Order: sequence, then C-alpha cells, then structure tokens
Amino acid sequence: MKLCFFFFFFFTFFTFALASNVSYDGRSLIIDGQRKLLISASIHYPRSVPAMWPGLVQTAKEGGADVIETYVFWNGHELSPGNYYFGGRFDLVKFAKIVQEAKMYLILRIGPFVAAEWNYGGVPVWLHYVPGTVFRTYNKPFMYHMQKFTTYIVNLMKQEKLFASQGGPIILSQIENEYGYYEKFYGDDGKKYALWAAKMAVSQNIGVPWIMCQQWDAPDPVIDTCNSFYCDQFTPTSPNRPKMWTENWPGWFKTFGGRDPHRPAEDVAFSVARFFQKGGSVHNYYMYHGGTNFGRTAGGPFITTSYDYDAPIDEYGLPRLPKWGHLKELHRAIKLCERVLLNGKSVNITLSPSVEADVYTDSSGGCAAFIANIDDKNDKTVEFRNASYHLPAWSVSILPDCKNVVFNTAKVTSQTNTIAMIPENLQQSNKGVKTLQWDVLEEKPGIWGKADFVKNGFVDHINTTKDTTDYLWHTTSIIVGEKEEFLKNGSKPILLIESKGHALHAFVNQIYQGTATGNGSHSAFTYKNPISLRPGKNEITLLSLTVGLQTAGPFYDFVGAGLTSVKIKGLNNETLDLSSYAWTYKIGVQGEHLKIYQQDGLNSVKWTSTSEPPVGKPLTWYKAVVDAPPGDEPVGLDMLHMGKGLAWLNGEEIGRYWPRISEFKNEDCVEKCDYRGKFNPDKCDTGCGQPTQQWYHVPRSWFKPSGNVLVIFEEKGGDPRKISFLRRKVSGLCSLVAEDYPSVGLLAEGEDKMENNKNVPFARLTCPSNTLISAIKFASFGTPSGTCGSYLKGDCHDPNSSIVVEKACLNKNDCVIKLTEENFKTSLCPGLSRTLAVEAVCS
Ligand code: GAL
Repeated sequence: MKLCFFFFFFFTFFTFALASNVSYDGRSLIIDGQRKLLISASIHYPRSVPAMWPGLVQTAKEGGADVIETYVFWNGHELSPGNYYFGGRFDLVKFAKIVQEAKMYLILRIGPFVAAEWNYGGVPVWLHYVPGTVFRTYNKPFMYHMQKFTTYIVNLMKQEKLFASQGGPIILSQIENEYGYYEKFYGDDGKKYALWAAKMAVSQNIGVPWIMCQQWDAPDPVIDTCNSFYCDQFTPTSPNRPKMWTENWPGWFKTFGGRDPHRPAEDVAFSVARFFQKGGSVHNYYMYHGGTNFGRTAGGPFITTSYDYDAPIDEYGLPRLPKWGHLKELHRAIKLCERVLLNGKSVNITLSPSVEADVYTDSSGGCAAFIANIDDKNDKTVEFRNASYHLPAWSVSILPDCKNVVFNTAKVTSQTNTIAMIPENLQQSNKGVKTLQWDVLEEKPGIWGKADFVKNGFVDHINTTKDTTDYLWHTTSIIVGEKEEFLKNGSKPILLIESKGHALHAFVNQIYQGTATGNGSHSAFTYKNPISLRPGKNEITLLSLTVGLQTAGPFYDFVGAGLTSVKIKGLNNETLDLSSYAWTYKIGVQGEHLKIYQQDGLNSVKWTSTSEPPVGKPLTWYKAVVDAPPGDEPVGLDMLHMGKGLAWLNGEEIGRYWPRISEFKNEDCVEKCDYRGKFNPDKCDTGCGQPTQQWYHVPRSWFKPSGNVLVIFEEKGGDPRKISFLRRKVSGLCSLVAEDYPSVGLLAEGEDKMENNKNVPFARLTCPSNTLISAIKFASFGTPSGTCGSYLKGDCHDPNSSIVVEKACLNKNDCVIKLTEENFKTSLCPGLSRTLAVEAVCS
C-alpha cells in the first residue's frame, strides 16, 4: 500500500512538476511518450473572480476534464501601449498556477484577437487609433503590437515556468482565432498575415505545439483545429496532425432583448461521442463555465452581462445538472476506451442505413466500440457481434469491451437540480434597519462642466468616446415661433432620429422623452416620438450610447456607432432637419467621470439622503450601504424594476444592467426541447417576452462583513425600492432512471458499474455539500410521467416506492437507490418498461 502511494505520488509529481515533452502525430498529442485523449473545459479567468477559480477548476476536474482552456484578454492586460495590468480578475499567472495545482493541463489561447463576445474581440481600443492601423491583416502597426503582446505573454509564462516544456501545465498555445473565415476579405494581405502570425508564434520557442482554429492554411508545425457544434466530420489539413476540437459550444450566448438559448445535454453528449468515435483526440467545451461579463467587458452590440452560456457550470459556479453529470458519465465512458482508441486500429461497420459502428481493437486483445444512430427521428435495434442493441434516435452507445453498453448519449441517468433565487430583502439587514437608506444624486441631461467640442453635424460615437464610456451627449437648440400651427391645434411635432447604434435616450427641455435601441446584431435604429415644444428656445439633448463593441467580422474594427440624422416633423407642417446644426458634445456622464462609485470618488459630490428615493427618474445615481447576504451561496442582484444602467459594489464593477424585455414572440421559444437532430442556437430557446437579464452576479468575495457600498447609475428611470439581493440555491433534486438504462455513474469512487454491478441500474442523488436530503417529494417505480418538479404517478406504480427511497436517502447527503428486486416489485406491469422517478429536497 505504502509502495503504491509512493508510486502514485512519484507519478503525479513526475507528470506535473518536471519537464514534459509534448509532441503529436496524426492520431493524438503525445505527452512524455504517452498518447493522450483529452477532455478540456473553457473557463475564462476574467469572467469570474480569483476566489472562484479553485472551485471552478475543481468542478471541471470532478466533471471529468483533464485540461482547462482559456483565451488571453489583451485589452484587459495592455491598458495603454506598454502599460500592463495583471491584477485581480486579470491575474493570469495565478489562474495558470491554480490549474497546475489541480494537476490539470492548460491550453492557452493567446489570440490575441479572440472574438469571445468580449469587447472589441479582445483587441485594445487604443490600437485602432494608432495611425494607419488595420486589425488582423498584413499591417505594420497591428503586427507590431500583436507580436509585442504575444511575446510579453510568452515571456511571462516562461518566467513562471508555466509551459509543459518547463514542467508547467501549458500543453498547447493558440495564435489568432478563426481567421480562416476572414482571410479572403483582406486579399493577398490576409494570407500573408495568417502565415506571418503562424511563423511569429513558432519563433517564440515555447516548446509545446501551436494551434490555429478554423485556419485551413495553417503551416506546419502549427495544427489546424475545428470549432463548431459538431466536429466529427472534420479532418485536419495534414494527416500528420491530430484531430482536435477547440470549441464545442454546449449552449450559446445571449443578447439584451434576445432569447435564452439551451442546448440539450443529450445532443452535447452525442456530438462529443461522435467526435471520439470518428478519431478525435482533444476536445474542448467552449464554455464549460461561461461566467460574467463584468463592467463594460461585454462585446456587442448588446451581449448581456451574464455569459452563462447554458454551460455545464452555471454563471454562479454551480454545476448545471443534468448537463454536468451527464457529461461526466460520458467522459468516464470515453476514458474507459482511451487506450484502445489511441493505440488500436479501427474498422467502420454499417449496421443499418443510419447506424454505424466504429470498432477499435489492439494487439493485446482490447476492443472498444462506438455505435451511432444518426437518424434524427427513429430509434433502431441492430445486431452487433451476435448481440442485439437498441439505440434511441440521434444517439451513440459506448461499449468499452465491445459488449456492454456503459453509456448511451440519449439516456440521461444523472440527477437534475432545480435552482432557485431566494430573495434576501435589503430592507431587513442584520442591524434591524427597516428601510434602506438611499443617497441620491441627480445628473442634469446634457453638457456638464465644460463642453468637449461644438461641431456642425455628427461625429462617429466610438471615434469620439474611444470607448472610455458608453455615453456621448449631444445638445442643440431650436427656436419655435409663437405662430406655429401645432401650438394652436394641440398636435405634437415628432422627433425623428436615425442612428448607426446602439441606443439613445432623448430629452427635450430637460425632460426625458424616450429611448430607442437596435436589436440583436442590428445595431442601427430609428427613434420616433411626439415631443412637447414651447414657443421660444427649446433644448434638444440626446444621449447616444454604445452597448459593447463589435467582436468579430471583416474590418470589424471600423464598425461605427452614433447618430446620423435628427429631424423634427410637424413644425408649420414642415420637417426641420437638425442634422447639420451646431451640436455641442460632451463625452460621458459626470458621476462616472468623478468615479463616484469608488471609495475615493464617493465624497467628491454631495449626495442627498432620503427615505423616499425618486422612482422613474432618469440620470439618477443611487447609493446605499448594504450588508452581505447571510450564508455562502452565490449572490445575484435583482434589477428587474430598474431601467438601464451600470452597477458597482465596493467599487467593483458588476456591469451593465438592462432587464430589457425580449422582443421575441412565444412561437420563437419552446416549452420542451427535442434533442434529436442538428442543434442551432435558435432551436431550443426560452424567455420570449421575458426580461432578458433580471439577476446580476455579485461575487461573494466582493462583500465585506458590513458597510458595503452599492452604487447604481440609472439612465432612464427605475424603482430602486425593489432592488434586492438573492441567494442562488439548489432547491431540489430529481432523478429519472429506467430499468434498461446503462450507466457508468459511480456507486463509490473507483467502483464502476461495468465491473461490479453488471446490469443493475440505479438512481443516485447528491445534495450540495453541507446539506442533507430532508424530504422525498415524489417517488414512483412503475410508469411515472412528467419532468422534474411535476412528476405524476402512472397506472403502474409500486406502492412501496416512497418507503424504499426514504429509507435509502433521508438525512443523507448522497444516496444510491438500486433498481433491484429487493427494492422494488420488478414483477409489476410485465411487458412495460419501468422507471424510477424521484424528487427530493435538500436543506
Ligand atoms: C467562435 C469564436 C469564439 C466565440 C464563439 C461563440 O466563433 O471563436 O471566440 O465567439 O464563436 O461563442
């Protein structure tokens, strides 16, 4: 035993602390002479906080990942030319070391262009203003700064001994990102740039391979890799390169005003199993934890602050079940096949028109098979090696010994968790303070301090703010004659505005008139609203906004925003065009400029304390002292009753909030998603007609025990009395397991079903740590129906179900219920396929 431990220790120490040699051939990566089948999980370090990193990495490891993958976020690191930042959420070295401590590998996608729904695709905005710069083409200033930053990151990693060649965790590095799609738009310079990027990367001598994703002309020794919802049909452009999948999207991102995309766990598992069936060897989930676009890091236009992504770990860091659990079981099944997959030979057998088996065998008699039914409607039963196998439509069965099915991608045996946001009313703080004391500061619409400039006509919004803020004020005035027709007949002139994007709040004579905004990928919009004008001078004040900068596309760096035309219709029956008027401009709002959301800036203005904060008041700053919600669950801020704006806690940037109602109709959403058939981001959406983002993640580590300062900047008017903190909790668990379900779910660590529990299906329930199963809300062995939260008994029901489940599970953190004869009446309803459905409560 001691010897065993010594070897184990020696082995792990050897693997992770001494130099590793990473090479590859056409089948796989080879690390220190061993072929590797790798499951990788994207976790972007700045999309969570350092206090969350160890937990997230550990949850990925428990989910069966060997590798963590991240981009490097250039504009978070190089704040101005040569001015680097690696603090807080941007502490890349700390993140890499956490991965190393977890004994996992790291794939570092340096980019430094990354897309990633991240502001400006990760490239610093200042680079656009270096004269003569064009991004992502054979352009001197771009290449100079790209090389400088890449070299800086490589040197930093080398200095910290983080490359595998130095004994560190980094086994692969990426240069550029999906440039293959865009190369052609840049003519000859596109190709020249791609080749230059590859060469520049290789010349960095990092001692591990470089990859380029979606880059069909990647030159040796760079490996081209695949990004898509499915990559089983992908082949690298050279037979000497392994088949690698850098982005399998297990969900999708969201935009303000858009829908909530969901990718079913069955389909994610199907795509992964198909990839390994067809010879893949490195697979990465983009994202495994999506996290949060804190502050103004969200790309645009309109990417939400939440980057949850429907990923296996949710935005707040909780495993999303059943997805996380189903994929964990999948990973385990695939790992059981690793040796023979990577070292064996394969044959492909068609078992029926839509059913194919890929059978891997090696010289030591090992055999593993993947059988796929790619029919998207019909289940199939096929004969394979003298046995009969039933395959649900659109599913893959994994047989690590070519006999026993240990996993089928369509049969979810993992538990489902229901998650609730539990209100934590701010008004009932620990100190017994009844009403939250808001301090208020109102900004006047229009120019504050000294105007920045006056110009006839419009400017490009982004070229003017250079993205130092979302906001750009425009003001002008018009004179309305006493004899205007509309003053007599009571009609109202119409304010008509055209903008390239992204949003606008309009004010006339200091009074808020309304908001207009683009939608989805269409940033342009029209504003059209009646306005009240008075005889004499009238002030027209327009607040133009950006909501995240473009993240990708040909010449995306030149995509502009801002007003292009302003007219007033209905003045003496004519239209007055204000577009070439003299407009006075001011960049930003005053409170933001004074940083009144930070400790230092808080007292630079005079706040007004009030027990009745203004409601529906545009351009208002609210400040309150709040206590940390009790407990240790993740925290969300409910902004449903606010309009649009920015929020901070203790000076930390929570981000943009905007509970904008999704403009999609009910028919664009689904109640139930059919996992069968090819997935696309519009296939399984929810949230039509609902607020796009109600809750905003406020990391626990941002709270002090007391005296926390919450600051809100509301642009168009909201009700701060309804702002509240909520705690994100697992409110219940469900499990639905059929007698014929295979499962590699562990009964105990190290004990898998194939070896010890042949053909005994079981349900397993696990509460979050520190909680116990306190009640069984539903239990039925027989033919129950429905989904988690609404199970119903069927005609066939074993009356002992609840007793059996309670006996196995009550007051336990974790329990297993075997579907055996001892437990249930297996003689019940012969001929029918029986299922056990359980719903439990943890507390
Ligand atoms: C890919 C891109 C990623 C991310 C993803 C969608 O095309 O490489 O950075 O933007 O799409 O989430």
